[in-house]
Amino acid sequence: MKTNTITIAGGSGFLGQVLENYFKEQGHTIYILTRNPKRDNDMYWNAKDLDNWTTILNKTDILINLTGKSVDCRYTEANKKLIHDSRINSTLILGKAVNNCNNPPKIWLNMSTSTIYEDSYNKEMTETNGDIGDDFSMNIAKSWEIAFNNIETTKTKKVILRTSIVLGKNGGALVPLKRLTQFGLGGKQWHGKQKVSWIHELDFAKAIDFIVTQNLEGTFNIVSPKPTTNIHLMKALRKALNVPFGIPQTKWLLKLGARVIGTESELVLKSRNVLPENLINNGFKFTYTNIDNALSSLVKS
Ligand SMILES: NC(=O)c1ccc[n+]([C@@H]2O[C@H](COP(=O)([O-])OP(=O)(O)OC[C@H]3O[C@@H](n4cnc5c(N)ncnc54)[C@H](OP(=O)(O)O)[C@@H]3O)[C@@H](O)[C@H]2O)c1
Repeated sequence: MKTNTITIAGGSGFLGQVLENYFKEQGHTIYILTRNPKRDNDMYWNAKDLDNWTTILNKTDILINLTGKSVDCRYTEANKKLIHDSRINSTLILGKAVNNCNNPPKIWLNMSTSTIYEDSYNKEMTETNGDIGDDFSMNIAKSWEIAFNNIETTKTKKVILRTSIVLGKNGGALVPLKRLTQFGLGGKQWHGKQKVSWIHELDFAKAIDFIVTQNLEGTFNIVSPKPTTNIHLMKALRKALNVPFGIPQTKWLLKLGARVIGTESELVLKSRNVLPENLINNGFKFTYTNIDNALSSLVKS
């Protein structure tokens, strides 16, 4: 098997570490671009200026950009600016660096979010027929994708990853949801009918691997083919954790709770109904399509 050099910008966080572990196991060489280098394969960058880190791109086969201030915070004006700037500036500077390379990466995958689509209970949003929405998070996603799409690369294929909530062992949304459930607060949130698009961390990594090995390009919804509902998600989580009951959370309680813990209630109130049409049409096989199996695999060990 050919081994590749993979550079992950913003790869020190939850998803970067999922990808680093997955690709390392296959024998690939990984570099991480980070503002706080700690390990031998970490390289310093400030995510907005050209600097020494650019040299690494000449020996990179696959570039993945995950950089972005977490949206799990209050949407103050200062936080909104950081959420926007961290995504757009990192994308723009990577574009400049790629275009300065004599030997640029063969493929560049840039993160986006499946939150780019309108809230939807009934209509299933695919890459071809999905309705793009118009609120703060949706507009961030649009600007992020426009910045990426406007960068012309002659020798580098480009891929947009419209990723849903990734369920994983060591980070992301599952960690606080598990804690709530263990405290007996894991009932339905609001009316519980909100659709939840999700993907298991293993399928997230496998989907990226698939896109690269199949030489694909364009926009991909990185979501499992079977969105669940909030009520079912919480029920499955209680079952996986062996917690017999969960107090339901009303909308006002969620808004109050979100304020107290410094986040936004939209993260659980929105209805996300997104399908991975492009992955499926290209023949990708998911390991986890059932939320019960996905959750029990993640909370078991
Ligand atoms: N987790 C999910 O379920 C999910 C779903 C859809 C989309 N996404 C998107 O995927 C990306 C990665 O998610 P994640 O869960 O791995 O996030 P994460 O754990 O918060 O990691 C994000 C990375 O971005 C860098 N970063 C954070 N704030 C920054 C800033 N102000 N300026 C420059 N760099 C900054 C950090 O690197 P350093 O601090 O090391 O520089 C960090 O490693 C994010 O853009 C997120 O919005 C995540």
